Amino acid sequence: MSQSYNRDLVEDFGRWQEFSAGMWAWIFHKFTGWVLVGYLFTHIAVLSTALESPGVYTTTIQTLEGLLIVRLLEIGLLAVAVFHILNGLRLLFIDLGVGLESQDRTFYASLILTGAIVVASVPTFLAGVFG
Ligand code: HEM
Repeated sequence: MSQSYNRDLVEDFGRWQEFSAGMWAWIFHKFTGWVLVGYLFTHIAVLSTALESPGVYTTTIQTLEGLLIVRLLEIGLLAVAVFHILNGLRLLFIDLGVGLESQDRTFYASLILTGAIVVASVPTFLAGVFG
């Protein structure tokens, strides 16, 4: 007879301290994927102001880019996009059987590379917002 184990809900966030690197990678990938889908709607809304007139579009962009919160959200968006791309490429390689034994290390590498790219982008994203 087969044995069954009571593992409770693996997804139970109350057990986050027990999560492995792979579990965090799974959560971050889902989170970043759906944030990108959400951003698509904002992106289309902003671009659609160009349908009014080029002037309305320019004013919209200038107003948005003048706000510190928008610049910070842009840095967050970059972090989300870069992590999703790097981790997504890692997953595609794993699906091909490449790097199966180094899954944890490549996940940490995606996180570190994402962090480095985001930190390097900060001066560009914040340029001109303080004055
Ligand atoms: C170079 C760019 C990208 C790569 C390499 C990539 C890669 C992947 C991969 C491999 C998966 C499947 C993960 C799995 O096996 O569970 C995935 C899931 C997903 N991606 Fe991407 N992706 C990219 C860009 C995007 C963009 C631009 C969006 C949104 C506009 C997006 C949204 C999603 C969503 C919503 C999921 C499903 C998340 C879930 O499991 O619920 N991805 N991506």
